Amino acid sequence: MNFSDKFRAVLRNAESICVLTGAGVSAESGVPTFRGAEGLWQKFKPEELANFDAFINNPELVWEWYAYRKQVMKNVQPNPSHLALVDMERLVRTFTLVTQNVDNLHTRAGSKNVLELHGNIERSYCIDCHTYTDDLEALAERKVPRCKSCGGLVRPDVVWFGEVLPAEVFQKAAKASEKCDLFLCAGTSAVVYPAASLPLTARERGAYVVEINREYTDLSLRTHETILGNAGEILPEIVHELQSVKERAS
Ligand code: OAD
Repeated sequence: MNFSDKFRAVLRNAESICVLTGAGVSAESGVPTFRGAEGLWQKFKPEELANFDAFINNPELVWEWYAYRKQVMKNVQPNPSHLALVDMERLVRTFTLVTQNVDNLHTRAGSKNVLELHGNIERSYCIDCHTYTDDLEALAERKVPRCKSCGGLVRPDVVWFGEVLPAEVFQKAAKASEKCDLFLCAGTSAVVYPAASLPLTARERGAYVVEINREYTDLSLRTHETILGNAGEILPEIVHELQSVKERAS
């Protein structure tokens, strides 16, 4: 792949890289994205499934949907995008991986410094006493899980519409965006805020911002470059380039 001279120079000098990933990065593993013709929000209504009131009104329905998604995510494997980001982490002094994905695939692939902005579908907690649980045998019996400590309703540890992001996680992501030399935005439509504000913050603070996506997005006009194509092909090529420019520079 022919990267621009500017991008190669940025890679050569990069000491701090921040990456924001979205559902497109897991698409090649077989996890459906949210938007677009094949996206989940074409078939399912977020107002019925992904907000707190919907959960209180119909926990059975919400849990049925999450049990299905948990099953899908458990049965897929990290793809070359996830693996490339594991390698990228080893090649620069400071690396922060910020993800909107709840599928745990970055951690399963081996990435260390992962900031999960929208939670993680593998975790659940009690809405009353906030005790975390991984033990969800109730789901196998198609029942709504209840807290073992207090009997309260257990919910997936994901951020729903209308909810705030985990403050500390977002602060760390914002700080990494402010301090990085290079910000990569991969496989996200960049329409959900505040996650979508991170590349803009990075650019304001002087980082070079590169988007990797199958198509142009609302963000494209505000990046330095958009590289069109599959993240599973482009991210490994970026890592290859990073490795060779670093080797040549040393
Ligand atoms: P979207 O479904 O909105 O966008 C996925 C993006 O990935 C699109 O821009 C696609 O063009 C792109 N894409 C698909 N396959 C790709 C591939 N193989 N390589 C590169 N790009 C590809 O997903 P997100 O941007 O992650 O929030 O959505 C953001 C948030 O909206 C999600 O975290 C979720 C959702 O509502 C919550 O659940 C809070």
